[in-house]
Amino acid sequence: MCDKIISLLSPRGPKGPNVCRHLISDTSGGPRSTEMGGAAVAVLAAAATRHNRARLASLFYMVARGLHEASAAAAEEEKVGTRSRRRRRRSSSSLLLGPDFPDTWDHPPRAASRTLPPRVTGADYGCTATIIDGKSIAEDIRLHIAKEVHQMKNAVGHVPGLAVVLVGDRRDSESYVRYKTKGCEEVGIKSLLAKLPGSCTEDEVMDSVSRFNEDPSVHGILVQLPLPQHMDEERILSAISLEKDVDGFHPLNVGNLALRSRKPLFLPCAAKACIELLLQSGIELMGKHATVIGRSKVVGLPTSLLLQRHHATVSVIHAFTTNPEAITRESDIVISAAGVANLVRGNWLKQGAVVIDVGTNPVEDPNSEYGYRLTGDVCFEEAVKVASAITPVPGGVGPVTIAMLLGNTLDSAKRVYGLSD
Ligand code: GUN
Repeated sequence: MCDKIISLLSPRGPKGPNVCRHLISDTSGGPRSTEMGGAAVAVLAAAATRHNRARLASLFYMVARGLHEASAAAAEEEKVGTRSRRRRRRSSSSLLLGPDFPDTWDHPPRAASRTLPPRVTGADYGCTATIIDGKSIAEDIRLHIAKEVHQMKNAVGHVPGLAVVLVGDRRDSESYVRYKTKGCEEVGIKSLLAKLPGSCTEDEVMDSVSRFNEDPSVHGILVQLPLPQHMDEERILSAISLEKDVDGFHPLNVGNLALRSRKPLFLPCAAKACIELLLQSGIELMGKHATVIGRSKVVGLPTSLLLQRHHATVSVIHAFTTNPEAITRESDIVISAAGVANLVRGNWLKQGAVVIDVGTNPVEDPNSEYGYRLTGDVCFEEAVKVASAITPVPGGVGPVTIAMLLGNTLDSAKRVYGLSD
């Protein structure tokens, strides 16, 4: 049944555009309403995704795409038909920006390739790839931070403070926050936690942010993402004081990262960790072809921007990219942040490529203590035979990301107390 609906509505199918256009003319007949219809369906798709209804979500995407394409076609027809009668109208901003589809990675061919790899190390395969040891890199960074925190306490009588806002009881978010709090303890950074129920209001979260903005003992504020769906994430992130935005997600910090002539106050931690791992491993970035898989605010987007600032030539692959493996196969560096276990296979990689795996995907494992284990986006035992260097999961990007957060918090406090280099 589902397949039948998909084939009928698919914008790529023979009837797709017509059905979509029919839907439009049935409602109000104008391209503007089509855009709104497309947006509404995209919202529904996002809702379906949240409920893990992958099939339903992809159906909605197709309809939304169809509506969008039909809208463009209808606008074009109108333009051609009226060119002689009146002046050409400018396209709406929403059309120029493109429809805002959330990324989904549920395409069947990729899903089919996701057999879970056993847990192995490079040595098991007699491979030549260097395993980039994020754990020990992070440890060195933490030691350095702990020393500086100690010096700060002696110099000004204060230590840096990190405030975390955690909303709801997602297990993954809770464990990320636990790691962050533990990291603070290890280096002598004071940590504060505002834990709110998932049913709280957006204003209650805003209140927590305001309180931490006003608190002089807090130098960094982090709102753990994702937030519950009823909240306006952008509004909350924009309320964080720019000087305390240690996650680097404030729109001004993101904008300044995107503009090469500007310097953001803070860089997003996972993106910073990827670059740190590459640089510490002696990998040249300038002029290299780097491909980032995923375009999220947390990892993919800032990583691609940061790589450009390092003068790499950057490709970004997302859920709608056709033939992504053809792009990765041409890449000197592949950074995967798709959130899909086993997405990147050995045959996606060029011989000697450097692979940074940001994925932390829980997969069932009856042999593990909790019944599941974390695995990356990259099929490690295949990639390790092709790559020249690769990060493991766990023990790669994760610990360095937390070290970057501690470093950002320290930098923020140093700025406040006039101790910046
Ligand atoms: N959720 C997953 N990663 C992150 C992160 O780095 N920062 C925040 N705030 N939320 C996240």
